[in-house]
Amino acid sequence: MPEFLPTAPYRGTRDFLPPEMSVRTQVFGHLYEVLERRGFLRYDGPVLESAEIYEAKSGQEIADQQLYTLTDRGGRRLALRPEMTPSVARMIAGSAGSLQFPVRWYSHPNCHRYERPQRGRVREHWQINADIFGSESANCEIEMFELIHDLLGGIGATEDMFVVRANDRTLLSSVLTDLVGVTEEQLPRVFSLVDRWEKHDRAALAETAAEIGLSDARFERLTETLGAGSALLDEIPAEVREQSNLVSVLGGGAAGLVTFDPLIVRGLAYYTSTVFEVFDTSPENNRALFGGGRYADLAGLFTSQRIPGIGFGMGDVTLFDFMGTHGLLPEPRSEVDVVVIPVSAELSDAARTVAATMRRAGLRTSTPIELRKLGKELSRADKAGARAVVIVGQEDWDAGNVTVRGLADREQRQVSVDEAAGTVTELLAR
Ligand code: HAM
Repeated sequence: MPEFLPTAPYRGTRDFLPPEMSVRTQVFGHLYEVLERRGFLRYDGPVLESAEIYEAKSGQEIADQQLYTLTDRGGRRLALRPEMTPSVARMIAGSAGSLQFPVRWYSHPNCHRYERPQRGRVREHWQINADIFGSESANCEIEMFELIHDLLGGIGATEDMFVVRANDRTLLSSVLTDLVGVTEEQLPRVFSLVDRWEKHDRAALAETAAEIGLSDARFERLTETLGAGSALLDEIPAEVREQSNLVSVLGGGAAGLVTFDPLIVRGLAYYTSTVFEVFDTSPENNRALFGGGRYADLAGLFTSQRIPGIGFGMGDVTLFDFMGTHGLLPEPRSEVDVVVIPVSAELSDAARTVAATMRRAGLRTSTPIELRKLGKELSRADKAGARAVVIVGQEDWDAGNVTVRGLADREQRQVSVDEAAGTVTELLAR
C-alpha cells in the first residue's frame, strides 16, 4: 500500500473550499463597505515581521507562548504576525511625515498564534483591523463604538444580539490601588487576574491572588469592588474620571452604544486607557466576539513622535460562530448565471463568441471545457446553479440565432445572437 501524505491542513489552520469561500467573500464584502463608507482606508503588510516588535509590547502571553518564530538564513529572528497592531504602528511611524493625522486605516490580515485549537480559537485566523491614529479625542472612542454597531448591522445583526462592554485601564488602576490597596508592582498581575475573572472559578482566582501576594481580606475587597459593576464609577475620584474619554462618552451621545464594565481589561499589554470587548448575547458563544482599545505609545517603538492609536481586531472564527448562531450566514453564490452549450465540438468557437457577449452584459458565464451530450450538459448547468443555458446548434448558428432555455421553466426561445444576452438578463430578473 502506498503511503500518502494527509489531505488535512496543519492543525489549527483551515482550508476554505469555494462554497465556504463564497460565504466569506460576501460577509467580508459587507464589512469592507461599512468601513469605506466611514472613510477608513485599507492597507496591508507582510506576514513575516521581526520577532522583537511583539516581544516589546504585546505582553507575555503572545510573546512567550503563542509566537511562531523562525530564524532566516541571515540569522534574523522573525515571527509570523500574531496580530496586526505592531505592524500598523510600524507603518504609521514610518510614513508619519506624509500623513494628515488623524487617519483611519483598516486591514484584513491572517494572523498566527500557537494556541490549543478549541471553539473560537485556531492557529491561523483572519482579523479585520480598524484603527484611528493621531488623536486623543473622545470622538475616536465614539467612532469606534459606532463603527462596531455599523459593522454588525452590516451583516444583519440586530442590537439585541450583542453588547459592547468597555473599561478604562486608568480607572481600573485607580480603583485597584486606591480602593483595594493593590501595589504598583502587583498591578500588572492583578490586571491579568481581572482579565480571567469570568473564565476561572473562585478557588482558582483566590489561588492566583495569593500568589500575587494579595491577602484574603484584599481578595474579598477586590471581589466586592468588581462586583459593584457600573456603580463603581461613582466611587472613582472626580479628577480621575474627568481624564477619561470613556467616562465622557458614557455620559454623552454614544451612551446607548456601550456599557461600563470593570471586568474588561484585555490581554494585550500595550493598551493604556480605553479597552472594550463585544459579546454575543446568546449563551452558546460565551467568549468575547472581538475587542480592542487605546494605545498611547505603540508607535514609540519606532519613532520619537507621539502618535496615539485606538482600534480593534475582529476575528473571523468568533464572527462566523456568531453569525451561525443567529442565522445570519448568507447562502453560497452559484458558480455562474448562464452556461453556453454548443451541440457539437465544431461549434465550440461559436459558443465562446456567444459567451463573450454574455459576459460583456455582466452575466457570469461559462462554456463546457469537456463537451458531453446535451442532456448531461443541462444537468451539469443546473447543478452549477445556472438559471439559464444558451444552446448553440448548427442550423440556428448559420441563421445568426441561438436558443435560450430557462432551467426552472424549461421554456425555450429562439433569438438572434445580438438579443441573447438581453433575453437571458430578463429571464434572470424574473
Ligand atoms: P486580540 O484580542 O488578541 O486583539 O484579538 C482580536 C480578536 O481576534 C479576538 O477577539 C478574536 O476575535 C480574534 N482572535 C485572536 N486570536 C485568535 C485565535 N487564536 N483564533 C481565533 N480568533 C482569534 C488584537 O489582536 C489587537 N491587535 C486588536 C487591536 C487592533 N487593538 C487595537 N487595534
